[in-house]
Amino acid sequence: MSKTILITGGAGFIGSHLTRLFVKKYPDYKIVNLDKLTYAGNLENLRDIEGAPNYQFVKGDIADLSFVRSMFEQHHFDGVLHCAAESHVDRSIANPLEFVQTNVVGTVCLLQAAFEAWSENMEDKIFYHISTDEVYGSLGTEGFFTEKTAYDPRSPYSASKASSDHFVRAFYHTYKLPVKLSNCSNNYGPFHFPEKLIPLCIMNIIHRRPLPIYGKGENVRDWLYVEDHVSAIDLIFHKGKLGETYNIGGHNEWSNINLVKELCRQMDSKLSRKSGESEQLITYVKDRAGHDLRYAIDSSKLTRDLGWKPSLQFEEGLSRTIDWYLQNQTWLEDVTSGSYQNYYQQQYHRR
Ligand code: NAD
Ligand code: TYD
Repeated sequence: MSKTILITGGAGFIGSHLTRLFVKKYPDYKIVNLDKLTYAGNLENLRDIEGAPNYQFVKGDIADLSFVRSMFEQHHFDGVLHCAAESHVDRSIANPLEFVQTNVVGTVCLLQAAFEAWSENMEDKIFYHISTDEVYGSLGTEGFFTEKTAYDPRSPYSASKASSDHFVRAFYHTYKLPVKLSNCSNNYGPFHFPEKLIPLCIMNIIHRRPLPIYGKGENVRDWLYVEDHVSAIDLIFHKGKLGETYNIGGHNEWSNINLVKELCRQMDSKLSRKSGESEQLITYVKDRAGHDLRYAIDSSKLTRDLGWKPSLQFEEGLSRTIDWYLQNQTWLEDVTSGSYQNYYQQQYHRR
């Protein structure tokens, strides 16, 4: 094996796409997926590659320093792709400490273990931290987040991710740990846990349940197909400069209400329902506390320096995503049995 790479959070949404890409594209890399398997982690997401000779899964917690150290001792990692996180804003509002524990403490444990393992020889090592555009805060109706935009996180989730980004840069500047970072806009695609807007609405449309829109539905997000995100990560991991940050986004802004209407339109047609039927399910509910108005990414540095461009138009990506959920309803049923029911009850029925 030419390299051994640790992927954290590889059983989650983005992590599973990233793991699949690396296992398939780089047969000479050994890929070790470390995941705690929280409610968001699911080994079903990786069924197609679980038997690959260059892939290994290990269950564990990134915030357990002695365990993480033992992983570095055992596997002699050359690189880390750090995806593991608590990732849902609404859950961070309900339980901020879990976000500090995984996103901040967990990231620092990984940095510390990588530094200890690599301190003698940092050559050809890479610690790649995967982050979000939410660290930049909220935009008004104009402008874009660039790599130079000042951090202004406003939810417990984004504050914990911002803090982890600062620690990654601190390890670069203080200890010369070879790091790279990227901050990406909202992802969508297969294996997205149905607590997030797009898969939640797809699932509710299938079952003719209400589509909960926070506030007036005017908040804007910049959506990127998950495979385009992981292709950018691949490029940055191999060609990006050490110590640098790259913004990743699709120049694809949608207000929540327009996005949900587009979903309804496509699903009515795919499910042979009457045009306009699913839109009847739209239900305006109490707004999210501190709801960021707009996110929009300027990814021109990534395009200019590394030649990356998103491959898919949104309508096509959305159509592929809906088809995947329609063909994988057992996956949806499995991930929404058990603790999801309590979450849904607390999040949507206390309003
Ligand atoms: P996700 O919630 O789907 O998956 C997170 C994974 O991390 C799960 O498999 C979970 O089991 C694992 N995990 C959680 N705590 C852990 C711990 N303490 N130790 C080990 N594993 C743990 O998240 P996602 O949407 O795939 O996001 C992945 C990364 O990308 C996160 O860092 C997130 O901040 C970032 N990101 C996400 C988006 C998005 O739109 N989803 C956009 C930009 C950046
Ligand atoms: P989400 O998918 O949670 O991602 P993020 O908060 O990280 O951007 O939410 C996307 C947008 O959709 C956000 O503006 C909040 C809104 N939203 C709803 O209107 N209703 C919902 O039930 C959910 C989960 C989100």
